[in-house]
Amino acid sequence: MHNEIEKVLISEEEIQQKCKEMGARLSEEYKDRFPLAIGVLKGATPFMTDLLKRMETHLEMDFMDVSSYHGGMESSGEVKIVKDLDTKVEGRDILIIEDIIDSGRTLAYLVDLFKYRKANSIKIVTLLDKPTGRSADVIADVVGFEVPDEFVVGYGLDYQEKYRNLPYVGVLKPEVYGG
Ligand code: PRP
Ligand code: MN
Ligand code: MG
Repeated sequence: MHNEIEKVLISEEEIQQKCKEMGARLSEEYKDRFPLAIGVLKGATPFMTDLLKRMETHLEMDFMDVSSYHGGMESSGEVKIVKDLDTKVEGRDILIIEDIIDSGRTLAYLVDLFKYRKANSIKIVTLLDKPTGRSADVIADVVGFEVPDEFVVGYGLDYQEKYRNLPYVGVLKPEVYGG
């Protein structure tokens, strides 16, 4: 698996260090509160587990799975719920955890949904941000790393469902895409 990686963009050590820093910051922000931490399946799971271990407040965990349709010539921006939360959002302080923001459509949809469900507050924490990909208006509250306009895999991010279990974020060799 590792020999299919052209280069490592963000090392395991850098990710772990960033999780510590973000965890400390979020511990402060959610001091004396009981946030509902929502991981967006599947990509957010490695980051979610490492980040939440660094938060020193009580919190509740839940998961949401959504899929966006990219039918037709351009992606429609339509998002569909595949798995909904088990938890009521009304009155809660929501912390959405993502691995990457690209177009921003997934998060724009989720933020609207949680507003509609009357969340008390909504924050977004993302490990990676790819600002060049943006088409929806979404700004994360906490960003780990900005990534260039390249297809990145690892630490939750997949190519055809593979590479999520890499401990780092990297770029695939072009031949892996069948090029
Ligand atoms: C990826 C990624 C984000 C989303 C970002 O998930 O994990 O959730 O796309 O893209 P956007 O900003 O353009 O919406 P994907 O839908 O591929 O599902 P996965 O997490 O199961 O891989
Ligand atoms: Mn995802
Ligand atoms: Mg994916």
